[in-house]
Amino acid sequence: MPSARHEKLDVLIRRAAIEKRVHAVARQITADLKGQRVHLVGVLKGACIFLSDLVREIGLETSIDFIAVSTYGAGNESSGQVRMLKDLDSSIAGLHVVLVEDILDTGLTLSYLLRILRQRKPKSLRVAALLDKPSRRVKKVKADYVGFTIPNEFVVGYGLDYAERYRNLKDICILRLPPPDVLAERIPEP
Ligand code: PRP
Repeated sequence: MPSARHEKLDVLIRRAAIEKRVHAVARQITADLKGQRVHLVGVLKGACIFLSDLVREIGLETSIDFIAVSTYGAGNESSGQVRMLKDLDSSIAGLHVVLVEDILDTGLTLSYLLRILRQRKPKSLRVAALLDKPSRRVKKVKADYVGFTIPNEFVVGYGLDYAERYRNLKDICILRLPPPDVLAERIPEP
């Protein structure tokens, strides 16, 4: 995708590889929850594409819901505060829940979500994360299903954004931002 902003995209994971892994994760969930109904909870907005592909490959009765959170204090990750922006529409009590995340990074978001969702007494609570960046972890959390473990690179595509752009890329790409001098050149004179 051409960028007028001097941003460069290098493909990290191609669409065919994503599809293969998403299908494998769906098969695993189908096997683990055999005969049960599975309730997928997507974490907005990044997980929407992953959830859409995942749910269509799960061979069980399913239902879906979404939750949205936001993290503050990104400059100081150990003190990052997570705040709920949109709660679930319905109760998860007694349900087999799979929390669906696009990326597991510091773990602050997942740690918060697991805490509040466990209080709501689901029958079981699992986590599916398409991407895992273990090198960035601040909180000791992990996913039950991981699509890909990736290095500490800024990635976009397949739901992941930079300033709300690039979520629609079919591949997962490393975003290379322009050096500060290029950005400075683009600031108009007063
Ligand atoms: C991303 C991602 C996770 C969270 C992971 O969301 O979707 O929810 O960050 O990061 P953490 O492990 O460091 O907490 P983001 O805040 O970028 O919002 P978005 O999904 O709407 O893009």
